[in-house]
Amino acid sequence: MSRVWETFWEDPEQLREFRFTRRQLARAWRFARPYRLLLLVYLAIDVANAAVSILPALVIRRLIDHALPARAAGELGVLAAALAGLFIAGTGLNLAGAYIGERIAHGIILNLRLALFDHLQRMPIAFFTRTQTGLLQSRLNNDVREVNALFTHTANSTVTDVLSIGFTLVAMAALSPVVTLAVCLLIPVLLVPAEFVARRSRRLNKEQMKRWGDMETATAERFNISGALLVKLFGRYERELKVFSEKVTLIRNAAIQTEMLGVVFGGALGLAGSLAVVAIYWIGGLSVISGGLTLGTIVALATLAQRVYGPAVDLASTRISLAAGMVAFERVFEVLDTPHAISERPDAVALGEARGEVVFEDVWFRYPAPASYSIASLEAEKPGSEGTDAHLPTEPSDWILRGVSLRAAPGTMTALVGHSGAGKTTLSNLVPRLYDCTGGRVLMDGRDVRDLTLDSLATAVGMVPQDPHLFHDTVAANLRYARPEATDQELVAACRAARIHELIRGLPDGYETMAGERGYRFSGGEKQRLAIARLILKAPAVMILDEATSHLDSETETLVKEALAEAFRGRTSFVIAHRLSTIRAADQILVIHEGRIAERGRHEELLSNGRLYAELYETQFAIVG
Ligand SMILES: Nc1ncnc2c1ncn2[C@@H]1O[C@H](COP(=O)(O)OP(=O)(O)OP(=O)(O)O)[C@@H](O)[C@H]1O
Ligand SMILES: [Mg+2]
Repeated sequence: MSRVWETFWEDPEQLREFRFTRRQLARAWRFARPYRLLLLVYLAIDVANAAVSILPALVIRRLIDHALPARAAGELGVLAAALAGLFIAGTGLNLAGAYIGERIAHGIILNLRLALFDHLQRMPIAFFTRTQTGLLQSRLNNDVREVNALFTHTANSTVTDVLSIGFTLVAMAALSPVVTLAVCLLIPVLLVPAEFVARRSRRLNKEQMKRWGDMETATAERFNISGALLVKLFGRYERELKVFSEKVTLIRNAAIQTEMLGVVFGGALGLAGSLAVVAIYWIGGLSVISGGLTLGTIVALATLAQRVYGPAVDLASTRISLAAGMVAFERVFEVLDTPHAISERPDAVALGEARGEVVFEDVWFRYPAPASYSIASLEAEKPGSEGTDAHLPTEPSDWILRGVSLRAAPGTMTALVGHSGAGKTTLSNLVPRLYDCTGGRVLMDGRDVRDLTLDSLATAVGMVPQDPHLFHDTVAANLRYARPEATDQELVAACRAARIHELIRGLPDGYETMAGERGYRFSGGEKQRLAIARLILKAPAVMILDEATSHLDSETETLVKEALAEAFRGRTSFVIAHRLSTIRAADQILVIHEGRIAERGRHEELLSNGRLYAELYETQFAIVG
């Protein structure tokens, strides 16, 4: 029964554009293929199960018509034992079928999830700047689950239903064609109200989903640190509770309606079965009176008839569940089909031991058009509503870098300075290929970075962004993210070099302290030093540091300065500098202005030129440094 009911939940709205294509089937098959042997076993079990489940009715018939009138206690015993055996076998087959079915379905789902996860994590960083995390998660959870339903529930129950109706009707027809016809005539009478119930429940379901979505968005927003802080600072508890109460009241109302609809529907289905039994006893009874049928036949027919309506109703809605599953399948593949905008060439070479020479040759860059890397349906405007109709801009941005040429010799330090929005971060992002340049070349040890394997480039280049991220894990685990095999001594050495060891040692759990959003709240400067320690462990040939703009107090300033001096020793480094101390130490300073290198040189020269650098020095560095 519950299975029948579930098929009514699918949302027909999703189906508008649904069409079966060979391609979809071929893809579905690609994921199911490794399980083809198990699928065969599964099918065999299903057939056996359908066959076994009609046999008890026939045994009962024999029992009533033969064993009882003949008062044959011996035969009665045999028949009873057969009956018990059949029931036990049926249960066993059910169990085996369920186990194999789940194995197949969840295996497929596991592979699909892995494929999706891996594809997503390799998407270019630009993709993540536009995509809503919540929608991504929903793709990984809900849609994959929906596909799961397609494989388990729909495919499964369709096969089972067809087999079970088929076997049952054949058995019934063999016993009495007239009664079978009468039972079949009742099917359409049942399907009409079932369709009505289905429509209503789909509408309710959709509403319910939306309300759940609303509630989840609201709670997620209010119960993160910033949201909770806002509520607290404005003291809006009463009002928040009122809004929340309205939302959950709506959920309650819809839930009651849905449940009741389910109960009514279940009742109707049961009633139809009972009416069929009435019809059988009536029509069949007349035939017994006139001597056409035996008593046992009627009882057998009545037993069998109970097994017709559920599967019939279930089958009627198969198309919809199938379509819903396929829609989800499409949505999963929409992601899998999006190519990686930044990928490795088939003939890419590994860099080997990098020297760390970085050269820009007449580099032009503009941010690519979102249409070229993003997925519209993952960029919702409003929470809860997926912007499937959204059109992504097809125009790239203005030129951000206009003919930048530079050379950073191995082991030297290059400082990038310039007004906000000048293009400093953009420039540095081209080295680890967070973006690819639009024109010109970026060279690493004399090779175009696009010719290198992504792995070897990632090994050669390290970066500390302005606001480094720590995973919700221990400090040690966060550090080892750079190098999983690092020993405890190496961790300590890196943290000493980054001037953060004393602080970590002072924490109650030391290196086992939980960090990240929900863990120990490291300050901005501490996080940067942790990120520097992580980079020291990684020991890349080229280091890029986007200095925090916020002013550090002088003690922290000194610590970070020392940390950097250690970290940068012997490496090529790029620093997007906001502090005079860093700039003074640089081998070359590049002043970026409107996407060009406006001035280059060392601190004293640039200062004495009295141009842009001198102005920046006045406004930005003098105060901090
Ligand atoms: N993803 C993007 N798509 C389109 N334009 C972008 C994107 N990211 C940055 N820009 C634009 O590129 C320009 C350069 O930005 P960039 O972040 O490189 O500046 P910056 O020099 O690092 O500034 P700041 O000192 O404030 O960090 C800015 O005008 C910015 O608006
Ligand atoms: Mg920046």
